[in-house]
Amino acid sequence: MRKILPFNDWFYKETWENGDDIRVDLNGFERVTVPHTNKEIPFNYFDETETMFVSCYRKVFQVSNEWKGKRVFIRFDGISSVAEVFLNGKRLGEHKGAYTAFDFELTEELRYDSDNVLTVKVDSTERDDVPPFGHLIDYLCYGGIYREVELIVSDPLAVSAMHLTPLDVLEEEKGIGIKLFTDSPKTEKDVPLSILLYRGEETVTEELFTVTVPEGKGTVEVSLNGLKGLSLWTTEEPVLYTVKAVLKDTDITDRFGFREIRFTPTGFFLNGEKIKLCGLNRHQSYPYVGYAMPKRAQERDAEILKQEIGVNIVRTSHYPQSRHFLNRCDELGLLVFEEIPGWQYIGDDGWKDLAVKNVEDMIMEGYNHPSIVLWGVRINESDNDFDFYERTNAKAHEMDKTRPTGGVKYIEKADFQEDVYVMNEFELGKSDRRHIDQNMATGLDHDVPFLISEFVGAWHPTKRWDDSKHREDFALRHAWGIDETALDDRLCGSLAWCAFDYNTHYQFGPGDRVCYHGVSDMYRIPKKICTAVYESQQDPHVKPVLEPSIVWCNGDIDQCGFLPMYVFSNCDYVEFYFGNDLGRRLFPYRRQFGGMKHAPMYLDRVYDKIWNRWDWLDATFVGYVDGKPVITRKFAKDPKPTELRVMPDDRVLKAQGVDEAYDVTRVVFDAVDQCGNTLDYLMDTISFTVEGPAELIGPAQTTMQGGCIAAWIRTTGEKGTVRISARTSKLQSKAAEVTVE
Ligand code: GAL
Repeated sequence: MRKILPFNDWFYKETWENGDDIRVDLNGFERVTVPHTNKEIPFNYFDETETMFVSCYRKVFQVSNEWKGKRVFIRFDGISSVAEVFLNGKRLGEHKGAYTAFDFELTEELRYDSDNVLTVKVDSTERDDVPPFGHLIDYLCYGGIYREVELIVSDPLAVSAMHLTPLDVLEEEKGIGIKLFTDSPKTEKDVPLSILLYRGEETVTEELFTVTVPEGKGTVEVSLNGLKGLSLWTTEEPVLYTVKAVLKDTDITDRFGFREIRFTPTGFFLNGEKIKLCGLNRHQSYPYVGYAMPKRAQERDAEILKQEIGVNIVRTSHYPQSRHFLNRCDELGLLVFEEIPGWQYIGDDGWKDLAVKNVEDMIMEGYNHPSIVLWGVRINESDNDFDFYERTNAKAHEMDKTRPTGGVKYIEKADFQEDVYVMNEFELGKSDRRHIDQNMATGLDHDVPFLISEFVGAWHPTKRWDDSKHREDFALRHAWGIDETALDDRLCGSLAWCAFDYNTHYQFGPGDRVCYHGVSDMYRIPKKICTAVYESQQDPHVKPVLEPSIVWCNGDIDQCGFLPMYVFSNCDYVEFYFGNDLGRRLFPYRRQFGGMKHAPMYLDRVYDKIWNRWDWLDATFVGYVDGKPVITRKFAKDPKPTELRVMPDDRVLKAQGVDEAYDVTRVVFDAVDQCGNTLDYLMDTISFTVEGPAELIGPAQTTMQGGCIAAWIRTTGEKGTVRISARTSKLQSKAAEVTVE
């Protein structure tokens, strides 16, 4: 048997005292459910050391007599940053690093006749001995047991993981390599192993093997061959298969996909087809609770990136991210560049050993995700360190023969030890609109597989409520980046910095502990002018997009007026009306954007006859595809607060049972004018009301940020209907309902 039980209800206190490791009492503790942050913080201007302290988590539990003779393990998905685990006063061990899962065996110390007390000492300080720390970094790591916890009950012959390798992917007859990571008290011969392959519910095949399981920690490998009629995993149709391996009485199940990846000097190929990689970097932080967000929120980020913004790759900057996020990337066909924790600094030998271990753990955990196409095995933007990077590359290649390594550099002509030369570049938008030339970057006289991992970012921080010319500039830099990437046939692709605004130290950003580098804010609310650049690269038949780059008014830009402006759209052409008069018909500006699938449009003058008067009128933009109008945007000459919209991302949540993590959804509050457009500069108080079996994460009252804001609600364990509403000084929203089942 192998049973996985959620183990997410804990007791918590913000201190650690001598003796806490053996104490059993829960005085002074509060009840919490993980994912949990050690401390909630304000949106900005907090003190970043507020989450840096040592805290104590405790769990009292009983075990069933049926488990006698079994082995019991505890698995933590992620604790920030150093955890020491004690069971009934005995120290089981320590794990250093916030971003990889780890487990401890509880078997020997378990009591069957009385309570068991599990205590976790969580050190959330930025310790010099643990990556990414040792020097200043441009992000926060928060603290706490911030990912889920599981208890695993297993037969003595335990299987801890399974790696699935697609074989002969592009052949008619494919295969699967199956590697089981076993841990057995003794060598066992002639053990039956059955491998079942499923597509959804449907069984594709079942094969039986007889294997020998070695004593102690080891592996068992078998393969399936000659499999016909299997589908590929692609970015458009990400078909997943499930393998269940039953070794004697223990089983393990996981998903994977059939796809082949190649980074070459002439670009990136998925299943033999050239694809230009267009992506964004993601930090996994959220307002108030930092990293502590459960499954649904993690999944939602992948959906925003692939389905809403429309990119095809994400970099998990700068650390391995939640399995829920990666699972959703698998399901959606969103490619992933995953990397080890670090930022510009390389520590001492012990620190480097941990970084190599991070490579191992990252690949151990991430191996089966078809979405992952590249392992980042260099500390983001670090100096050369030949021996160290020989080790990280060797570890990655030893663990995974199917994926290339990359390593993010920022110094030119850096040691090229990885399979793909990956570079953060700061040329674009600074002196001109070009990405750095790859031969200048590498210093090599020949082309290599080359990927740009960051551009824009700190070179043009932008808030959602900045003036429209500033926002337009931000959008243009992203547009240039996409355009230049498309025009360089040798470039595998580029990923802009970044998807979502994130918390940081005061030394970065405007000092308020938020870096406003995202194409969306920390609430994942789009900076619309910029996200429209990405969205407009999609097929207009699927989703027509039309977003003018300016706010419709007469005084937001230098010298008044509204021109010149861009319109980000995937339509064939757009008609602009001033009042009822046709002001101009706009077409994609190919001369400036020859590479983009759908070039932005440019409006620098309007027909004279409509402009020679003093009145300011409403504006209308109509987008045409195949000769038909498909999208109309109207802008009021005198925008007034008209409606406060309440928009939950989900209408149905799960109540969750004992020890299961809570469920969450985001609710967006949008104050719109008479045309339904967000009031970009509305700063007003907003108070939220949540009734029913859910509670608000963060403050009950705050300020709108440029016409909108969002809040997450979390389930409390009961079922029923949740009603969410909000009020500003002028507007009262209707209530939105969410069912908790
Ligand atoms: C890069 C760095 C990112 C972020 C970005 C801001 O140098 O890799 O983590 O700090 O700059 O533009």
